[in-house]
Amino acid sequence: TVGLTAQEAGYKVYLVGGSVRDLFLRSPNLDLDLVVEGNGMDLAKKLARRLGKVRVRTHKKFQTAKLIFDDGLIIDVATARMEYYKSPAALPVIELSSLKMDLYRRDFTINTLAVSLNPKDFGLILDFFDGLRDLKGKVIRVLHNLSFVEDPTRVFRAVRFEQRFNFRIGKFTEGLIKNALKIDAFKLLTGDRLFHELENMLLEEKATDCMRRLGELNLLEVYHPKLKLSDKLEAILDSVEQVMAWYKLSFLTLPTRPWLVYFLALADPLDEAEMEQLCARLALAPRLRREIKEMRAQTLKVLNRLQRNQLSPSKVYDLLHKLKPAYQLYIMAKARQEWAKKAVSRYLGNMTKVKPLLTGDDLAGMGFDPGPLFKEILERVLAARLDGEVTTKEDELALVKS
Ligand code: CTP
Repeated sequence: TVGLTAQEAGYKVYLVGGSVRDLFLRSPNLDLDLVVEGNGMDLAKKLARRLGKVRVRTHKKFQTAKLIFDDGLIIDVATARMEYYKSPAALPVIELSSLKMDLYRRDFTINTLAVSLNPKDFGLILDFFDGLRDLKGKVIRVLHNLSFVEDPTRVFRAVRFEQRFNFRIGKFTEGLIKNALKIDAFKLLTGDRLFHELENMLLEEKATDCMRRLGELNLLEVYHPKLKLSDKLEAILDSVEQVMAWYKLSFLTLPTRPWLVYFLALADPLDEAEMEQLCARLALAPRLRREIKEMRAQTLKVLNRLQRNQLSPSKVYDLLHKLKPAYQLYIMAKARQEWAKKAVSRYLGNMTKVKPLLTGDDLAGMGFDPGPLFKEILERVLAARLDGEVTTKEDELALVKS
């Protein structure tokens, strides 16, 4: 459909970039990138009309469009304008492949493969920059020397792809990364972009490996000069990975803001002032910065208390329930004793579901006035239930009466 629609409009269209790379690697990808030689926005609109049940978002300045399907599929449509070079006299106009120029602007050779969707040569693979060779050789390689200087976020993308696919950054490309560090190419990067790439790495399944690799390449200091790879840092990141795997297995989903658990672990060596510098460099929103500052302080207190001696379930509940999930998981990762880890896992697994059987209505029926007292009574009942002191509603009634 895409190729036919393009042909009718007089355009050429190619599937490019990450989607082609993932096709070869048999890695699932719900984000398809198209490059159109012609008018990308026009093709996107025509496609939407033909396919139906899709939302279109166009970006006029960049001549791009996004088709968003209900099942999660996203098609990004970009324009590579045809470039005509008039030759002198009556010679024919030369048409330069703008597809090739579009691909040359990209980050790594493995992301420069294209597949023609045009009816005339549908399925033809275009490999201008040896992308197939590097996919087979499992190498991450840039296309030209200035790639990282033009866009330093690519350094983090290189590490992310390397770890995700178990590839290796090429020798020359690694040299260019070291050079980017030497000339401090990162100082021009906005906090937003720096954070976005960090978040992308922390959302990877191999987030810990990504951080380890950043450490090896001395790239952690881009975030904060005091961040360095150490046995201690590796240990806490490994521990977070185990906790995240446990969480995923137990609840079949990830906690909200999974990146934050890794982020807290990464910032483990930093004191409060240094953590604030890190958050400022990453341009985190003021609200998030405040939250991190407050919760991190509380987290350390809770951790100390949890590790001092084994506590009753209601005490554990008391300590943990005011913290958000990311901080609870961070505590679980940081706890040294197995029983302290277990206490947090039991909290996350069972305790959050426990509720008193008595309701506010029951209490009103017993003659209590609604208000803060209700909350206090129900909290006491909950504590007794968590500690196994009451099991039935009658037990709870008896407790309240006493
Ligand atoms: N790209 C680039 N430089 C960047 C970001 C992106 O050259 N700093 C190019 C890449 O070639 C990439 C394409 O833009 O193939 C689309 O970017 P994106 O969707 O971020 O990358 P994917 O390769 O699809 O990666 P992911 O699987 O993480 O989505």
